[in-house]
Amino acid sequence: MSTVESSSARDLPPAARVRRLAEHVGATVRVQGWLANRRSAGKLQFLQVRDGSGTVQCVGRKNVLGDELFEQLDGLSQESSLEVWGEVKADERSPGGVELQMAGARVVRAAAEYPITNKEHSTGFLMAHRHLWLRSSKQAATLRVRSRIIKAIRDFFDSRDFVNFDAPMFTPSACEGTSTLFEVDYFGEPAYLTQSGQLYGEAGAMALGKIYTFGPTFRAEKSKTRRHLTEFWMIEPEVAFATLDDVMDLAEDFLCSVVQDVLKDCRPELELLGRDLSKLEAIQKPFPRLSYDEAIEKLKELGHEVPWGEDFGAPDEEALVAAYDKPLLVHRYPHPVKAFYMKRDPNDDRVALCVDVLAPEGYGEIIGGSERADDLDYLLDQIQKHELPMEAFEWYLDLRRFGSVPHGGFGLGLERTVAWITGTRHIRECIPFPRMLHKIYP
Ligand code: 4AD
Ligand code: MG
Repeated sequence: MSTVESSSARDLPPAARVRRLAEHVGATVRVQGWLANRRSAGKLQFLQVRDGSGTVQCVGRKNVLGDELFEQLDGLSQESSLEVWGEVKADERSPGGVELQMAGARVVRAAAEYPITNKEHSTGFLMAHRHLWLRSSKQAATLRVRSRIIKAIRDFFDSRDFVNFDAPMFTPSACEGTSTLFEVDYFGEPAYLTQSGQLYGEAGAMALGKIYTFGPTFRAEKSKTRRHLTEFWMIEPEVAFATLDDVMDLAEDFLCSVVQDVLKDCRPELELLGRDLSKLEAIQKPFPRLSYDEAIEKLKELGHEVPWGEDFGAPDEEALVAAYDKPLLVHRYPHPVKAFYMKRDPNDDRVALCVDVLAPEGYGEIIGGSERADDLDYLLDQIQKHELPMEAFEWYLDLRRFGSVPHGGFGLGLERTVAWITGTRHIRECIPFPRMLHKIYP
């Protein structure tokens, strides 16, 4: 049934996207897409055609389509590609408020038997067919929201005079600890895939004032959790002269802005995903803020005994955020559990001037940030204590030698943010092709 017909697209009605069909009620248009589902009832058939922007029901009548085409469509397999045209009719019962009364159709290519059907499939099976699973309505909706989140992120920083400043992917040094480095052979020398653009972002902030990096970052995470990818995207603003308080204010404004933009433009997707919109509407300033010390006290009340000095585990974080309906900012963690570049609190030498933002509803840490150590001698000492190779950091130390200023920033994990906003339990569905422990196909 290879039936790419000779009639040229010019002879056919104008093409329209399913998402915009409501603007064409009464007009005759053509939809180009794939067959998502189909049923027939005597001389009528109902084709669900998806085009990537949405799905529309197309009603075909035998007396209009003719016997041959009617029969061809009747035997058509799921995911066959086709074009259908006809008049757009308002229909309140349809999801998009419209349906298409078919005047004609042509099959572009009939599909082989499609492996993903309406029955339940295991996650392993779906992940092995990720290239096809992406066509499912929920997967497509999640990725559409992801795309909108990326735009919202850029719009926020661009509108505040930040300069987009891209950090390199190949690096000679570790930013976030040496245990999760991916080593690559760089012309016979070891190099690493970047864990964070931050150190380069600091150079950018000294050159341009306010910057943000936005790109893929890599961590050889040995843990298999619903929050960890080995390749994920991070947005990292860095601001000269910013203190920890400035960093926290920025993170708060930023998250409010992103959630509002998504709520404005992605209601159909969020509704399709079954997201409770009231939870997103609640994301308004101010966000609760707790110091690590206060968080330890609060956890004790909740029956979670965390010895002072230890990092919180996922169950602790979940217990902590359960009391709030907004992101929770936890600041001033003990410095040994945090990165070498963070500034110490001058009022309490045991803690770093840092902040983690924990998403509501148990989606985990979405932001990590800090004020950076701006003193050369302190950093020299830290690099030694963390047993990092001094040669690889000489350039970074220059930033403290030549006009060092207080500065800070944060990193937002894109996929965790998508998981939170879309209400997706596992991060693997929040990036087109997830990379995880031992998982690199397709
Ligand atoms: O807290 P992290 O490690 O902070 C940094 O990398 C800083 N250099 C950022 C900065 O200050 N410029 O990572 C930042 C965020 C986390 O809060 C989390 O959202 C995300 O990146 N993240 C991951 N997301 C998915 N998979 C992983 N393995 C992740 N590791 C971190
Ligand atoms: Mg962190």
